[in-house]
Amino acid sequence: MTITTTRPEPASADLGTDPQEPAGRRVLTGDRPTGPLHLGHYFGTLRNRVRLQRQGAELFVVVADYQVITDRDIADRLAEHSENLVIDYLATGLDPESATIFAHSAVPALNQLLLPFLSLVSVAELGRNPTVKDEIAHSRQSSVSGLMFTYPVHQAADILFCKADLVPVGQDQLPHLEVARTVARRFNERYGAGIFPRPRALLSEAPLLPGTDGGKMSKSRGNAIALAADEDETARLVRGARTDAERRISYDPAGRPGVAGLLQLAALCQDRTPGQLAEEIGNGGAAALKRTVTEAVNEHLRPIRARRAELAADRAHIRQVLRTGAERANAVADATLAEVRAAMGAVGSA
Ligand code: TRP
Repeated sequence: MTITTTRPEPASADLGTDPQEPAGRRVLTGDRPTGPLHLGHYFGTLRNRVRLQRQGAELFVVVADYQVITDRDIADRLAEHSENLVIDYLATGLDPESATIFAHSAVPALNQLLLPFLSLVSVAELGRNPTVKDEIAHSRQSSVSGLMFTYPVHQAADILFCKADLVPVGQDQLPHLEVARTVARRFNERYGAGIFPRPRALLSEAPLLPGTDGGKMSKSRGNAIALAADEDETARLVRGARTDAERRISYDPAGRPGVAGLLQLAALCQDRTPGQLAEEIGNGGAAALKRTVTEAVNEHLRPIRARRAELAADRAHIRQVLRTGAERANAVADATLAEVRAAMGAVGSA
């Protein structure tokens, strides 16, 4: 029996957050190849993707290389970062036989969808996107590029080219999903064709993982433990984490964010609660806490890191995964673009 839960749509925004049965569904997700994935990605989304795949969903994963240059002038070491993303995906359990893993830049028809899609969104709407506004506020660039302003529409092309039903995302990506839903609806309305389904967000259940300073784990804050880090580096990062001088370890996220973050991290790795761990460490102080966390992280990541090392030794295989993914994605994107051009009555469409 299939049970589909339907929740009322939120009144304020058309987000379509509605977890559905993953079997038989098409899932699109992706990452920007800007550097190594860390434990925040792992507990936030990577594990979830693997779970969806095991439950029978068809996965499309975009290595969003054109999205790298939204907030920086130059895409640094793009090929290396892209291949490392694929290594992280495979090491954490994605099966490339059934998942289609590809880079933006290898799928021309996906990118061409951006043009008709841009015509469906107003400049005022683009300017209201809260995630883009926040990124502009934090950008180190001296001016806002056209790509920064419009990349959510490009992301709509990522999602719609393969007619994805589900998009697993964190909270910050919800405005982008709303753009994709709007574009799908308006395209269908304007051209009278039911080409695009309306994708739904699948919100990650994992809490935002704090980094080693108690703030959100993020590469740019230097508080992240990469999947690719070795055991010594992990120990060093944890040792450098901000805690306090109180000997008795307690789980108090508001009062002791540094201690609480470390407890959460170890708890996720050991599938226990932060409170249980705190009790066990008791009067051991920060030193015992950090030892526990280092061991928990290293133990949890040991098989993933071993697999990572094997995969990293065979770059040719990784490149082949990307080539095969691009082939599949191109076939799907070409078909969708043909439908779009036909619906628009473009000259030369079949
Ligand atoms: N913007 C996403 C991020 O920064 C990456 C991304 C690109 C994405 N295209 C996507 C996520 C499509 C979901 C769906 O993490």
